[in-house]
Amino acid sequence: MSRVTEQYEAFPYPERDPADEATRLITGSPSHPLEIDHFLFGGTRDWSQPFRALVAGGGTGDALIQLAQVLTSAGKPYEITYLDLSTASRRIAEARAAARGLTGITFLTRSLLDAPKLGPFDYIDCCGVLHHLPDPQAGFDALAAALAPEGGMGLMVYAPFGRSGVYPLQEAFGTVLTGTARDRLRRAKAIFERIPEGHPFKRNAQLSDHRASDAGFYDLLLHSQDRPFRIGELLDTLDRAGLVMTGSPQAHLYDPLPILGDKGLLVGMDDRARMDVAEALRGTIRTHVLYAARSAEGRVAQAGPQAVPHLKGVTGPKLAQHAAKHGVIPVSHEGERFEIPVPALAVRALAQVDGRRTLDEIARAARTDWLAFAPIWAGVSKALTGHGILTYSRLLRG
Ligand SMILES: C[S@@+](CC[C@H](N)C(=O)[O-])C[C@H]1O[C@@H](n2cnc3c(N)ncnc32)[C@H](O)[C@@H]1O
Repeated sequence: MSRVTEQYEAFPYPERDPADEATRLITGSPSHPLEIDHFLFGGTRDWSQPFRALVAGGGTGDALIQLAQVLTSAGKPYEITYLDLSTASRRIAEARAAARGLTGITFLTRSLLDAPKLGPFDYIDCCGVLHHLPDPQAGFDALAAALAPEGGMGLMVYAPFGRSGVYPLQEAFGTVLTGTARDRLRRAKAIFERIPEGHPFKRNAQLSDHRASDAGFYDLLLHSQDRPFRIGELLDTLDRAGLVMTGSPQAHLYDPLPILGDKGLLVGMDDRARMDVAEALRGTIRTHVLYAARSAEGRVAQAGPQAVPHLKGVTGPKLAQHAAKHGVIPVSHEGERFEIPVPALAVRALAQVDGRRTLDEIARAARTDWLAFAPIWAGVSKALTGHGILTYSRLLRG
């Protein structure tokens, strides 16, 4: 058994209790169907057709449960294949699905490198997995080969700068600690307490997984195979797999202009170089969350890194009016201010905000029309999505 499999057999990730399904649905990014519809299908997917999805390296099931539950609640047909090397993780994911009475899921204990034999899929979720493969490119290639021609994927892979401090500790623990996964965890936790407060890890306020659970501590600090990607490297890796980025819910983070303050400094740079500069200037991106497909053509309402449909504070009629008038929503994120373009169809919906009805009411009333509004909580872009995602998807249109 490889060290990676040994880890996830001992500490299924993330730590989840199937009993919690009775009280909460964990939602996040990527893989909320409304987000998928926006970034991969231009909001035009016909959800009466079965949605064939693969959750590759599904762990304890967050993306799987979100996908299956949202589609079940919306009364839409789907076939989901869950795949993971860890049997302990699979058991938890199965128990969570059973607790919700979700059907239409095939559970497999296999490597995602086998994905091409299982496809084709309309959608592949692969969150927090590809950076743990011995050869990540082989993983990207395998998933690309499992896609239906018009299909696409939602990916999350680690980014280096926002994880500052993680890699020196992984290296030190990996060098000195032996024994079972539990032995290593116990000793690492004791050593961690003696690490000086000035260590970059302890100064990195963005990292909290090690406090959340044993599985989180192990995943962050004791992983034996963990390779972060700069955004440019990730786009190159997608290129080699025959894929292109079709959008990202955190696209605003890849825009260097708010920090540079001078468009002139960007003259002559292509999108990729600009995104690398933005990542370096921000220094806080921990993960890249993006959608990818064979071609970006016809995918999103507005192409490019600024195609972001998420809105913050949309409960306020003033903000909605601002969006309707200017086509952008002003947001602040980690102390920076951004203007986020709103898809044209959403602008038209926002123009209907009258100060008497909440956006939820407008969305409910519009169910037979083109606007759907679904609350989405948590996920890496919570600061932007905390109040919801506004979409023109037909998923909830009945
Ligand atoms: C950090 S967890 C992420 C779990 C889940 N995707 C999530 O985001 O909550 C990584 C998962 O990938 C699985 N994994 C690692 N390599 C794999 C491979 N080659 N094929 C399938 N699963 C793999 C591990 O067993 C583990 O469950």
